[in-house]
Amino acid sequence: MLKAIETTVLDAAQLMLQAEENKMTEVKSSIHDLVTAYDKRIQEQLYEQLSRTFPGAGFLGEEGLVHSASGKGTFIIDPIDGTTNFVKGLNHSAVSVGYCESGIMRCGVIYDPYKKELFTAEKGKGAFLNGKQIHVSDKPLEHSVAYYGTSPYVPELTDKSFRLAAELTKRVIDSRRFGAATLDFCDIACGRAELFVEYSLCPWDLAAGSLIASEAGAIITDMDGKPLQYEKKTSCVAATPACYEEVMSIVHNIK
Ligand code: IPD
Ligand code: CA
Ligand code: CA
Repeated sequence: MLKAIETTVLDAAQLMLQAEENKMTEVKSSIHDLVTAYDKRIQEQLYEQLSRTFPGAGFLGEEGLVHSASGKGTFIIDPIDGTTNFVKGLNHSAVSVGYCESGIMRCGVIYDPYKKELFTAEKGKGAFLNGKQIHVSDKPLEHSVAYYGTSPYVPELTDKSFRLAAELTKRVIDSRRFGAATLDFCDIACGRAELFVEYSLCPWDLAAGSLIASEAGAIITDMDGKPLQYEKKTSCVAATPACYEEVMSIVHNIK
């Protein structure tokens, strides 16, 4: 199954590279929430190919894709994670497809077509970058880089997100906000960063990335320390075992 998802994702991601500089952009829920024709076309292509290869599978995709499964599993799709980066030509976005059965992520594939980096994982079989196994770092918090998200579509969380980012920044080498949650998980998975926090993420932001990071050795929970759920919005902490407890205690002290 993983190979078939990989091929489909690699194919669909080529559309991102064909994008014109001036992308037609529509606003969704607010001025912070954009969509382009490419988000929709990539989702369509993923849906067409995956539903042909895996008849009976369910689908949940960011751009209004909801199909209940008649079999057991559901594909959770973010056609372009990092849409604002894509619109602005920042070349930091990815296609993300996770496959979930009974609330458990089984497969995850994330492709960054700009860096030509393909991250993959299957439950219980490790995580890989371009076919090579990857692992989280073992650095203590003071030698770490922290990633944070700003939950841009939930403006009431802006101040709190920056309070948390400020407290984390004081405890690590430095912090970063790159604007594509799926790639944040991948960077933890391959040791480029040690932790990532965000107050509100959707299932498609988390599905593939959380499996890839956990298969590489990260601990991933919501901010109450509970396992992630993939049906609704949730907070998220992804951290290396060396940093997780300290990160949670910082999270708990943010009001
Ligand atoms: C967003 C990005 C961003 C994160 C947001 C997500 P989108 O996804 O992953 O980094 O802060 O919470 O919604 O809208 O670009 O697919
Ligand atoms: Ca996303
Ligand atoms: Ca998206």
